[in-house]
Amino acid sequence: MLIQSGIDFNIPFAVLDPDAHAPCSSLVEFHHGKLTDFDAVMKFGSQCDIITIEIEIVNTAALKALAKEGKKVYPQPEIIELIQDKRTQKIFYRDYNIPTADFILVENAADVRKQKDFLPAVNKLGREGYDGRGVQVIRTSSDLNKAFDAPGLLEKLIDFDKEISVIVARNAQGEVKSFPPVEMVFHPEQNLVEYLFAPARLSKGLAAEADRIARKIIHELDMVGLLAVEMFVTKDSKVLVNEIAPRPHNSGHQTIEANVTSQYEQHLRSILGLPLGDTDIILPSAMVNLLGEPGHTGPAVYKGFEDVVKIPGVHVHLYGKQFTKPFRKMGHVTIVDPDMDALKRKADFVKDTLKVVS
Ligand SMILES: Nc1ncnc2c1ncn2[C@@H]1O[C@H](COP(=O)(O)OP(=O)(O)OP(=O)(O)O)[C@@H](O)[C@H]1O
Ligand SMILES: [Mg+2]
Repeated sequence: MLIQSGIDFNIPFAVLDPDAHAPCSSLVEFHHGKLTDFDAVMKFGSQCDIITIEIEIVNTAALKALAKEGKKVYPQPEIIELIQDKRTQKIFYRDYNIPTADFILVENAADVRKQKDFLPAVNKLGREGYDGRGVQVIRTSSDLNKAFDAPGLLEKLIDFDKEISVIVARNAQGEVKSFPPVEMVFHPEQNLVEYLFAPARLSKGLAAEADRIARKIIHELDMVGLLAVEMFVTKDSKVLVNEIAPRPHNSGHQTIEANVTSQYEQHLRSILGLPLGDTDIILPSAMVNLLGEPGHTGPAVYKGFEDVVKIPGVHVHLYGKQFTKPFRKMGHVTIVDPDMDALKRKADFVKDTLKVVS
């Protein structure tokens, strides 16, 4: 999707990806290699003018060396490094007075088991957890045996009213623009965004508070690029930061159809040092992640495609992945409609109708 935006600006891309059949491999100059491998990243980056990322798990030592050689690396490697570990993220929020759930750092499962008085809590892996895979709810002491035996943190379980996200961008000149908050609805078992509504149904005051926090974070980080800020709105109307991601984000897919500028174009504008684009909403939208159907592993088949694309306002994005497996992200669908109830109805229809099977 970033490449699709870049084509509009005549930008030639090269991509490094560990999957030899990555969906973009036939579209761009493609390099097959591990993002965590110092030499692979150095070799790849040394032929680029500007280097950016779409996943944080990348060799930051190589990115730092490339930046030293004079390459533009955005987001800056030090920021990627800070974000790679949920512990350093939380310490950053605490140091900069950014509201977040109370937490305790832990080294291993034994450390977690000592914290009976801190429950109910959420145990998170410091590094390399994503899509909910490094997150475990520890509600009572009988759940303590589930604790991760690795460095991480224990965070107060937040009884939230909503989960929201604000995507904010900053260019090298220091210009900052943010998208209006969106609201995420999570899959109860998988901890994955099931669908999302934009704009979030929030009071003006809460929307302004979420926006203020997102801007403060990108400003304090001195970051160039696009930053997604995931937040909780608590039942007593407080906004708390959950985590941040320094790249185009799942909670911004709908901006392709629903906003004047998409998150992808905004990311490019920010790292190219261009004026940032207008983030206004054109129409309210819903976004549904298209996940591999449970029980199906193998070459992907898309059931119900024609039934959903005939509905006004429905836009299907398939990611070109050859193989499906349970809950793999295979694409997403954006629905635009001026009426919020119609959006919800159409989103439910899309979820029930479009299936990725094998
Ligand atoms: N302190 C908390 N209190 C209540 N729920 C939480 C808390 N922390 C996380 N969660 C729930 O778990 C989900 C996943 O947590 P988090 O975003 O930290 O993990 P992740 O694996 O990085 O997720 P993803 O890659 O899906 O964004 C959150 O979106 C939220 O629904
Ligand atoms: Mg998250």
